[in-house]
Amino acid sequence: MKILVTGGAGFIGSHVADAFLAAGHDVTVIDDLSSGRRENVPAGARFVQLDIRDQAAVDALFAATRFDAMSHQAAQTSVSVSTREPVRDAQINVLGTIHLLEAAVRTGVAHVVFASTGGAIYGEVPEPTLASLETPQRPLSPYACSKLACEAYLRRYAHDFALEATVLRYANVYGPRQDPHGEAGVVAIFTQRLMAGEPIRVNARKVEGDAGCVRDYVYVGDVVKANLRALTRQIGLPVVHCATGVETTTRTLAERIERALGVKGSIGVAPRRDGDVERSVLEPTREATGTAPTSLDEGLAATVAWFRERTR
Ligand SMILES: NC(=O)c1ccc[n+]([C@@H]2O[C@H](COP(=O)([O-])OP(=O)(O)OC[C@H]3O[C@@H](n4cnc5c(N)ncnc54)[C@H](O)[C@@H]3O)[C@@H](O)[C@H]2O)c1
Repeated sequence: MKILVTGGAGFIGSHVADAFLAAGHDVTVIDDLSSGRRENVPAGARFVQLDIRDQAAVDALFAATRFDAMSHQAAQTSVSVSTREPVRDAQINVLGTIHLLEAAVRTGVAHVVFASTGGAIYGEVPEPTLASLETPQRPLSPYACSKLACEAYLRRYAHDFALEATVLRYANVYGPRQDPHGEAGVVAIFTQRLMAGEPIRVNARKVEGDAGCVRDYVYVGDVVKANLRALTRQIGLPVVHCATGVETTTRTLAERIERALGVKGSIGVAPRRDGDVERSVLEPTREATGTAPTSLDEGLAATVAWFRERTR
């Protein structure tokens, strides 16, 4: 298949592109390199630097290549940026996605896989429950609103055109190549800082000094598997969760990373961050990966090994 991976210079998209190449597909990556890095794009993929807000450029690419499928990972991914710049967030995430979908249906793309967020669209997930696919959505940030809007657009295009669509709602994804310099991606940030002997801080869930927010950390390898299974039609559902169902506080995460690294770091405390959802844990959809999710310790071992290799 000829597959387009949007955002393929980023953390998740580059792993998805790797997997499609390994499975023998012809892969094109587009990315504007706003947060992605050229060196993340696998050597076997064609790379086109392109901003998905540029509708003419998107149209020209699709007309020239005639893709069979698209894995759409490109996005403005920061919740806090979305609260500061909701218009830019919607321009990239909503309008950019519509540009891609318009070009896709016009040129006969058969299948679109969309990277959505299970971590943001349900809002607060009350103790001790897991958000299921039936849980009502309560997006609390412009980022969550824009992802949910994209899901609705995708449903509309799949309904009106000969387009299959699969929505993958990711929990909190971590693994090799995650950017340790952003404001999100706590696994990458903690790993990098602990390796450098720098202190880390646990932002409060409610009160400074508590164990921090509760998250569902899913290994990037599982997310990649779901992308591959979706495009090879091993996922029959229109929407799935890529998640583990295991809840982990920020403090526990810090301690598990310390253990994986074999170091004892300095773990401090910090106030609650505005806009942080306190608790988000998802019911994993078995069909997404077909296997049990990677355990946190296993995923952290692979992540730590990559960060170590990179700094050698
Ligand atoms: N990392 C997570 O925990 C997580 C959780 C839920 C959903 N997601 C979604 O998964 C996808 C991949 O996220 P990631 O963590 O790999 O982030 P990332 O920032 O590493 O990747 C996003 C990529 O999109 C590119 N991009 C941004 N704006 C663009 C534009 N206008 N035109 C073209 N390319 C553009 C960036 O340069 C980057 O390479 C995103 O859609 C994100 O919303 C991620």
